[in-house]
Amino acid sequence: MNYINTMKDLFDMLDRYAEGVDWDAFYTNRDKPAPFLKYNKLPDKCVVDFMRKRTIKKACEFGCGEGRNAIYLAKNDVDTEAYDLSEIAIENARKNARESKVEKVVFKAENIFELDLMDKRFDLIIDSGVFHHLTPHRRLQYRDIVSNILTEKGYFILLCFAAGEDGADEVDDYEFYRRKQTGVAFTEERLKGFWEEKFDVVDLRKGENIVDNQMWESEYLYVCVFRKI
Ligand SMILES: C[S@@+](CC[C@H](N)C(=O)[O-])C[C@H]1O[C@@H](n2cnc3c(N)ncnc32)[C@H](O)[C@@H]1O
Repeated sequence: MNYINTMKDLFDMLDRYAEGVDWDAFYTNRDKPAPFLKYNKLPDKCVVDFMRKRTIKKACEFGCGEGRNAIYLAKNDVDTEAYDLSEIAIENARKNARESKVEKVVFKAENIFELDLMDKRFDLIIDSGVFHHLTPHRRLQYRDIVSNILTEKGYFILLCFAAGEDGADEVDDYEFYRRKQTGVAFTEERLKGFWEEKFDVVDLRKGENIVDNQMWESEYLYVCVFRKI
């Protein structure tokens, strides 16, 4: 029998009502890879631009996938911790890190909501394509986690599906639980309205379609740089 006695029980129950992406299947079946798998050795352009302007000592990446941003940070001498739900993604990330001969990155297969990072502090957190997959009831908790583990005035880089582009679900938060979702599209106003509670907006712009041998960016995403208030 299942009972709801705590907030954790309630959240766990709601998680089961939301049917999202099967990430391990995603990382296994690569016939038609999504851009983040096709370019799995290239960091996001906004991360490269950011690192050219600022000195970061300690960073964390949530939903790091096969490690493209975390490995880039480690190559730039940043002590980096990177987490992903998918064991397969993490195995591939570790392999990519070995091939790149970087040591300053630690990859762990963990659910963001089951981690205890409260004793840690990071100057930078990266979320490239995770927030838009989170269930609506987890978003506030996620914002608190990101804010709590950032240093004072620390940075948060977020890449998130943009409304009006192909490939994302244009659903409200009630509809989210009624059918399988592949990721929710956000408007600029919704992103600002949500994150401005705890962050200043340093940059928020629509991505452009750019790819070269060093980095990539796509027009279906919003690119956000936030700074903890
Ligand atoms: C669109 S992929 C992006 C991967 C990577 N950031 C990239 O851009 O290459 C989203 C990733 O978020 C991870 N993810 C989703 N929910 C998560 C959670 N609750 N905890 C940890 N990782 C999560 C998935 O396993 C998946 O690898």
